[in-house]
Amino acid sequence: MLTRIKDLAQKLAPRLIEIRRHIHSHPELSGQEYQTAAYVAGVLSSCGIHVQEAVGKTGVVGELEGQGTDRRVLAIRTDMDALPIAERTGLDFASRQPGIMHACGHDVHTTVGLGTAMVLSQLGDALPGNMRFLFQPAEEIAQGASWMVADGAMDKVSAIFGLHVFPSIPAGSLGVRYGALTAAADELEITIMGESGHGARPHEAIDAIWIASQAITTLQQAISRTQNPLRPMVLTIGKINGGRAPNVIADRVEMMGTVRSLHPETHANLPEWIGQIVENVCNTYGARCEVDYKRGVPGVQNDTALTQLLEAAAKEAWGSDRVQILPEPSLGSEDFSLYLQHAPGMMFRLGVGYQDKQNYPLHHPQFEVDESSILTGVVTLAYTAYKYWHSNLSL
Ligand code: NI
Repeated sequence: MLTRIKDLAQKLAPRLIEIRRHIHSHPELSGQEYQTAAYVAGVLSSCGIHVQEAVGKTGVVGELEGQGTDRRVLAIRTDMDALPIAERTGLDFASRQPGIMHACGHDVHTTVGLGTAMVLSQLGDALPGNMRFLFQPAEEIAQGASWMVADGAMDKVSAIFGLHVFPSIPAGSLGVRYGALTAAADELEITIMGESGHGARPHEAIDAIWIASQAITTLQQAISRTQNPLRPMVLTIGKINGGRAPNVIADRVEMMGTVRSLHPETHANLPEWIGQIVENVCNTYGARCEVDYKRGVPGVQNDTALTQLLEAAAKEAWGSDRVQILPEPSLGSEDFSLYLQHAPGMMFRLGVGYQDKQNYPLHHPQFEVDESSILTGVVTLAYTAYKYWHSNLSL
């Protein structure tokens, strides 16, 4: 079956490159993936896959019925949105939308999703189970997965796979990680309220700027002194605003930040922990505060059995030396985690790096991918799906 899948993918390769270049030159921002969605729907329909549009606003779902009686569904999720970045690759299929670019490789993800659907649609009897292909909008703003889930995209799903391109892994290889892959990412808004006064008479005022600086310093030090160092977290105050004039003591400071954490227990306790530290600092100096902790997306925790399955399939397809076991998670975030609240899942990193050319990081205006990676992604996912329906995982 592996040879058959590889042959099918190989035959599709020129068409897939065409598809990827089309999507690359027509990028759309999060939540506005109208043309991309219509294009994806067209490709899916043309290979006999049942298509549902506007699932999760601009999302698309493709359904491929298996030949068996099992009603459950194996899902494959790829994301479709681009970024507000002006492309500087100089490619002849570069973005035709000024200021918008597929700089995170979601054009490759979408193409791999389509390629996998095309290959699996040609397996006939050999595919006993149902497949669902989720083409998700608005991943960059961490909204699309929740939209799709709300529209029923995870109904009957027994497992889900996803991927993200990775420029530091060479094309032809891929990276697999057990357990935590990405961090939980939350948002923080802190308002500190003191009392205004003359800059020369601090004893008659409550200096919100100085107290804010104490709060930031205390939070950063408390991470190192009160959090388990084996459970990493990052707190970044990225925006701060307060004060009116050089000689007026500020009565109000507003701060915004992001909080990343890997361990579910750390994540659970963060609102209380941060709230208490900020309140204690403010109480000490007579200020009042409001701490608004907004839960973002949880971390991606890869399911062990599904990770083993994909690792084994990829090693069979490409050889052990082309499947890296990733030693470290990322403190980036990924709303793939929201699907994992409904079914176990696994996300892998698809190598897209050039061997002979400089590789720019994700979100860089010169980010490029080695397109041979598309085939690697398609075969890996199609063969993993085949193996899923022929393993005891599907029981
Ligand atoms: Ni991305």
